[in-house]
Amino acid sequence: MSSYARKTYYRETQRQHSMQHQSISQRGRKAAQTVLRSDFEVYFEAVQNIYHPVDNSEGTFPLNVAENKLCWPILKDKLQSISRTNDIPDWVAGYTDAKGDFAFRQAIASFMKQHLTHRPIDPEHIATSAGATAVIEMTTQILCNSGDVAVFPAPSYPVYKQDIGNKSGVERYDLTTYRDFMQLINGPNLTIDHLEAARKDIEQQGKRFRLLVLTSPDNPTGKIYSLQHLKELATYCIEHQIHLIVNEIYGLSLIDTRHPGICKDYIDHQVFTSFAQVIQELQSDYLHLWYALSKDFGASGLRVGLVYSLNKTFLKGYNNYNAPHMVSNHTQWLFQMVFEDHDFLTEYIKTNQARLTASYVAFTSMLKSNSIPYVPASGSLFIWADFSRLLSESSQEAEDTLWLDVYKETGILLTPGQGFGHEGKGQFRIVYSCFPIEKLQVAIDRLDQYLVG
Ligand SMILES: Cc1ncc(COP(=O)(O)O)c(C=O)c1O
Repeated sequence: MSSYARKTYYRETQRQHSMQHQSISQRGRKAAQTVLRSDFEVYFEAVQNIYHPVDNSEGTFPLNVAENKLCWPILKDKLQSISRTNDIPDWVAGYTDAKGDFAFRQAIASFMKQHLTHRPIDPEHIATSAGATAVIEMTTQILCNSGDVAVFPAPSYPVYKQDIGNKSGVERYDLTTYRDFMQLINGPNLTIDHLEAARKDIEQQGKRFRLLVLTSPDNPTGKIYSLQHLKELATYCIEHQIHLIVNEIYGLSLIDTRHPGICKDYIDHQVFTSFAQVIQELQSDYLHLWYALSKDFGASGLRVGLVYSLNKTFLKGYNNYNAPHMVSNHTQWLFQMVFEDHDFLTEYIKTNQARLTASYVAFTSMLKSNSIPYVPASGSLFIWADFSRLLSESSQEAEDTLWLDVYKETGILLTPGQGFGHEGKGQFRIVYSCFPIEKLQVAIDRLDQYLVG
């Protein structure tokens, strides 16, 4: 190409680029530049080449996305049997309550009482949306002004940033509550002093501390908050008019911490208690709970999430704004049928927990034998592990290099540490529920070889 042609080509490309920019709003331009996750590019490459024992034995193990595939065959059978043996009711084709059809919410309330909250739940206090992401976005739309601050104890699920920020304009504040990885081992150490320090810092910046978001069991540490701890934090939040939301999306994905392979990792065998108990005891407009079927039921693609709250004005606003986020009526109907079968649910939850525990035990024993520290989890789909001894230096660059090296050498894609909001380098999240244990064992063996060197 001549230099004149090159210049003309360059000018034309620039013109087209700028026209494209002008064709959308400022919001749209921001959207075009905001990626959901930094690891998606490598992830989409990895899923093209996934491990199969016969067809692709050198294939990859993407263990970076929080998916639970351990019990899908069981749920799939149940959903297929419902579809085979029942007529689809006519109401599914029309509009229904924006918070979710009442019969669906009744079925959810009964499921929650029986299996999650162990307290009666009023279906009028539930609103559903298409997945936890939509629930998080809707909640921040209704509770917060743009520029308000939401506090997350670090490390915390990276995508909260986009969920609260993209549309609601709420800022994420990562609150460091520990210095050393080993301090995480005994569970969440968030104190009132930490909250006070954050409040002062946020107010000094002329902003409002509007939300405190906890995840229990936690993503990524798998730790759970005790009832007493939750009550203490809730009392502080109510006093300072801060909304406290506990995300229990992993509420039924619990590990048997008394399993002989891991029991020595735990000082006490904490049991999960739902925040619903605190909400009902303290009866405040500032307390809320999130839940979804994406993880405990391995149904992230079916898009069902919910918020439980006693705040009537919040629920009214939610109802008025939720139309773009509603769960498909057909999905509502299917899960209504699933939730009415408590025997199925009891068996499903038990099997899921047994499979999660088996995979967790297999993975952590390999880490232990290679002296890789990890946070002993009580639940979730994760192991939060410290690979810092493999770093050439304590820097982001060295962490990224190690993350890619593990992928290149073993085909295992871990969740990068960046975005979780903590300070240490070399910490990665392992999702052990993406493959059944027979396949996961191959990944465990590969990582073992890598670590042995
Ligand atoms: C803590 C937490 N909240 C929300 C989500 C998003 O869930 P959903 O797929 O239901 O939108 C995830 C997914 O990883 C999560 O870990």
